[in-house]
Amino acid sequence: MRRSVLIVLLLVIALPISAAAEDGYNAWLRYASIDDQAVRARYDKLPACVVTLGASVVMQASQQELIRGVRGMLGRTLRIQPAPRDEGAIILGTVDSLARVLPSQVDTHALRQDGYILKTVNAESRSYLLVTGLNERAVLYGVFALLRAIALEEPIDRLEVLRNPYAPVRMLNHWDNLDGTIERGYAGRSIFFENNNVVADLSRARDYARMMASIGINACSINNVNADPRVITAEFLPQLVRVAEVFRPWGVKLFVSVDFSSPKRIGGLDTFDPLDPGVTDFWRQVSDRIYRAIPDFGGFVLKADSEGRLGPSAYGRTHADAANVIARALKSHNGLIFYRGFVYDHHIDWRVLKNDRAAAADSNFQKLDGQFDDNVVLQIKYGPIDFQVREPPSPLFGTLEKTNEAMELQITQEYTGQQRHLCFLVPMWKAVLDFDLQAKGPGTTVKELTAGKTFNRPMGGFVAVSNVGLDRNWLGHDLALANLYGFGRLTWDPDLTSRAIAEEWTRLTFGNDPKVVGVVAHMQLESWPIYEKYTGPLGAGTLTDIIGIHYGPAPDSSERNGWGQWHRADDKGVGMDRTVATGTGFIGQYRPPIAAMFESLATCPDELLLFMHHVPYTYVLHSGKTVIQHIYDSHYAGAEEAAQLVTQWESLKGRIDDQRYAEVLRRLEYQAGHSIVWRDAICNYFLRKSGIPDSKGRAGRFPGRFEAEAMKLEGYQIEDVTPWESASGGKAIRCPGTAQCSASFRYDGKPGWYDITVQYFDQSKGVSRFRLFIAGQEVAHWLADDNLPSSKMDAHSSTRRVITGLALRPGDEILIEGFPDGAEGAPIDYVEIHPSPSGTTSAH
Ligand code: GCU
Repeated sequence: MRRSVLIVLLLVIALPISAAAEDGYNAWLRYASIDDQAVRARYDKLPACVVTLGASVVMQASQQELIRGVRGMLGRTLRIQPAPRDEGAIILGTVDSLARVLPSQVDTHALRQDGYILKTVNAESRSYLLVTGLNERAVLYGVFALLRAIALEEPIDRLEVLRNPYAPVRMLNHWDNLDGTIERGYAGRSIFFENNNVVADLSRARDYARMMASIGINACSINNVNADPRVITAEFLPQLVRVAEVFRPWGVKLFVSVDFSSPKRIGGLDTFDPLDPGVTDFWRQVSDRIYRAIPDFGGFVLKADSEGRLGPSAYGRTHADAANVIARALKSHNGLIFYRGFVYDHHIDWRVLKNDRAAAADSNFQKLDGQFDDNVVLQIKYGPIDFQVREPPSPLFGTLEKTNEAMELQITQEYTGQQRHLCFLVPMWKAVLDFDLQAKGPGTTVKELTAGKTFNRPMGGFVAVSNVGLDRNWLGHDLALANLYGFGRLTWDPDLTSRAIAEEWTRLTFGNDPKVVGVVAHMQLESWPIYEKYTGPLGAGTLTDIIGIHYGPAPDSSERNGWGQWHRADDKGVGMDRTVATGTGFIGQYRPPIAAMFESLATCPDELLLFMHHVPYTYVLHSGKTVIQHIYDSHYAGAEEAAQLVTQWESLKGRIDDQRYAEVLRRLEYQAGHSIVWRDAICNYFLRKSGIPDSKGRAGRFPGRFEAEAMKLEGYQIEDVTPWESASGGKAIRCPGTAQCSASFRYDGKPGWYDITVQYFDQSKGVSRFRLFIAGQEVAHWLADDNLPSSKMDAHSSTRRVITGLALRPGDEILIEGFPDGAEGAPIDYVEIHPSPSGTTSAH
């Protein structure tokens, strides 16, 4: 071997072994090899055998998972043994089966369903590690907890752990359509359906069920709440059976969403009146048929009388009538019906200042308290509106005493950046969960109420709309998986801190490097406040396209329509007056101490001010700032902090595997650009509405910006963009036809190093191409090939390309060539030129 080759080889061996390529598929279940010998030594005494008591699919999954995890992390394959023998063992079994082989080893009096015990015992001079619980699912959860402890490098020598879930209901909802699309899904098509059938290959669904089990989720509904009635037909049932089969080993109960008019649409009846005997029969037959094929079926989810879905109001019946007719059909099978509290009229008259969508849930359901059967769970969105970036808790959580409740959260980031923006929602969820609604005097938090603890309800808990898709990493953004993980962990322990969850998730997802853990957890924890700052601060709602895709800024879209997500900005002030004294009266739905706190401007928290009150732009917040100045400052700060997320992530280069590093970086860079679109749209909007300038002189002024419509255009045409605040100056340029166009201007600033930003629209209807020239020299070219969610030139498709480190001299011509593709005309909004941050001003 030649000497130089040897040196190279030695060098390669000496370099830190870079992590194997990862694509995010394994999420937090990577079971990465523990290579630090000192840490690995902590597990030297782990028994070499596993004894599994019972042969059910759940017990088999538990055993296989244990073997897989130990193999991955410690490089050892546990030996399977049918019964404890003359050496130590890890024993997996329910409390009952364990009592038969090792009597009286565990104290089970504190155990509840699904809760597990991990315990080291020494019996007959041998050491056993017991993983047990009242049911088999609990054993599976215990296995995942044990493996998590190893992945987190915790000692497991003398274990004595008992963990119960906080609530019995720990469920995910999917809004998947049978054709394979997903309503409000942002990570590819459905893992369950394609072409009006269940997919042939259910391996993704199986792996997803494993992920659910690993965080203690025990139920999952797989189809859209805007339900297709076909899903409960006899013809479809064999397909549901297949899904139940892949869920079963992981202890996940299958639920489906139903259409309330099914008796008429698929049952051959001429009515779906819940009090009609034929309808009662219909639901009984449907339930009996499903349970014959799927004995552990969970039950149904129902959206009725909401957003165009049919419901009991068609016959003058109540929601209790509707829920109970189905509940009674499920009762003998121990099935549940989740009846959605998201019921409101989307045709309310916006001119009537007393009208208020926020009041709908409580006014529809509170009066029915006590009328729902015990296997009905009322599923209530966390806030009174609809998954906005900040809402108070729904008052309904605190006004129901005789009804089972579950809180509905959203993992899919419908109003919080759709997984193109980083937004770790655990802190937001915790703000709601920890809110003291004083339903029974002080000290009745939302989490206790929804879990059924306050009023001793038999059922209750937490549901989240997940909408994972076929994207390799499940949610599109690698960092978004922290929301799925965090939801599961909170259903077991809502008192975990957001930081603890963020750190734990990071360690399982990216490894235990303290720098990675510190930076990623920090980014996650900051991300919701950042997103709130540049979208909708002060409780005004996410100021997005309310009647469309709920993504980019469109602050006026909420007004003057019946959907009721109004912020009522006019030329004097902004906010919904929900007070009892002068407004809609919504605040009066809270118990008196909470109502008093929101009603008074002196005590209403700033972050919910505009949710509760309409105030002048000059109103001074507790912070000492005026509302209008807060709006400007918040949007500028949010956009700046979004840019810092990029820098923070870049500090991890080399510490994260290449693929995930690059993919996350790409999303964060995009987010930094889109936060500027948000900033400018919202600041321009309020500047124009209020006529009050930004005291810091930023809003409406854009140093270094050159509007495309003011450039010298060859072929390009100037077009208005709607709404006007989606584009700088309200206009953009578009290249019609198929031939290339160009836009140019002369640079007349100082010579030096500069970064050039080209703001353009990347519509979903083509892949345009751009080339950038300086003084005749091509310095960049790129494709508009992102997958942004709009076919128009608007704030959803507005994005940018930043080209750094360019030497400019006065008189240079800056020219962009645009090459249209199909209906996408290489549209451009503006160009910005800024000195390169680390550059020099004497490049020449
Ligand atoms: C939101 C969402 C809809 C969904 C609805 C619901 O309004 O935008 O797509 O159907 O919530 O929760 O039922």
